[in-house]
Amino acid sequence: MTATGLLADIETVGRDPRRGGYSRHGFDRVELELREWFVAEAQRRDLAVRCDRNGNLWAWWGEPGADAVVTGSHLDSVPGGGAFDGPLGVVTALAAVDSLRDSGFTPTKPLAIVVFAEEEGGRFGVPCLGSRLLSGAIDADTARRLHDPDGVTFAEAVAEAGLDPTRLGRDDDALSSIGRFVELHVEQGRGLVDLGAPVGVASSILAHGRWRFRFAGEGNHAGATLLGDRRDPMVPAAEAVLAARIAASEVDDARATVGRLVPNPGGTNVIASTVDVWLDARAGDDARTRGVVDRITAMATDAATREGCELTVTEESYGDTVHFDARLRDELAGALGGVPALPTGAGHDAGILAAHVPTAMLFVRNPTGVSHAPAEFAEAADCEAGVAALATVLGHLAG
Ligand code: HGY
Ligand code: MN
Ligand code: MN
Repeated sequence: MTATGLLADIETVGRDPRRGGYSRHGFDRVELELREWFVAEAQRRDLAVRCDRNGNLWAWWGEPGADAVVTGSHLDSVPGGGAFDGPLGVVTALAAVDSLRDSGFTPTKPLAIVVFAEEEGGRFGVPCLGSRLLSGAIDADTARRLHDPDGVTFAEAVAEAGLDPTRLGRDDDALSSIGRFVELHVEQGRGLVDLGAPVGVASSILAHGRWRFRFAGEGNHAGATLLGDRRDPMVPAAEAVLAARIAASEVDDARATVGRLVPNPGGTNVIASTVDVWLDARAGDDARTRGVVDRITAMATDAATREGCELTVTEESYGDTVHFDARLRDELAGALGGVPALPTGAGHDAGILAAHVPTAMLFVRNPTGVSHAPAEFAEAADCEAGVAALATVLGHLAG
């Protein structure tokens, strides 16, 4: 089966007519349907499927065990996301197993395809939640308390999906079984287009995190409240959005984004009582990333004071710069005939696992570079080049 044929199997699942693209979030109805689809595809290939304590799915070729070669990605999306971010790494893994089998290959090490839970943090706010839980990068109590916009906690959502929320948390058995982890992903940028290459390997990931700025003021009537009497949290919230652009533009390589702004209660003729501004900030290292956030916090604090509002800043998630294992990166680039290595500004489960096991990533060319949007794309021929590259890499590591 080709990777694009497998993507076509799921092309109607989770389409979002309101936002465009796909909305597939951890343990919602749509993601559960995708998980069932994955289990069926794995079983069709005689791979033994297990769900770990944190809701990550593992499909094993051979007996599960130590020094396993593990590949995979995620099936959830951002709200209104593209078809490739996540699913491409899963379908290419299934197709690579087919291709290895067709060539008569038998692994000498256990080989597994993993589907990580809630990679985007699109429902519960923390990205890479499945791999963070597995590796202990987030503690189980914090994860259990996370909640979606409807107030459903992560503990409730996993219980609804048949998992035991009391068993969430660092999974040393799963972690210690991974000898090498390789995630294939659509490139989120135009690096491979500029290099004229269909496939590359990752060198690094920017330091990045999410911060929630809560501005609290006084809810009131939009028509009856004199301007001088207002404590309108939307005003400093708007300044925080501009502060993000200003602060990021002052630091090399930095990016700061407000993609989500939530007024409460959110009525056109209502001065909000609170506004949550979700900041995504990234830069080349920890100091520069934290410097950008500190500068935004200072400007937002000043704006809040001028409007008589209070500001509370909460760090919701954070990950320092990732430099992928140079030996593995060069070994895989060599096995692929010398494909280029390139950095990325996007986060991945591979970035979380890189702190624990030798980890690598393969990127597949994205002609526009657009990602986290419906226009995200990879040509069929490049997806199949990705399958071939992944099969080569898995054959090389598990042979
Ligand atoms: O947000 C990110 O960088 C990723 O695509 N999860
Ligand atoms: Mn993504
Ligand atoms: Mn992804």
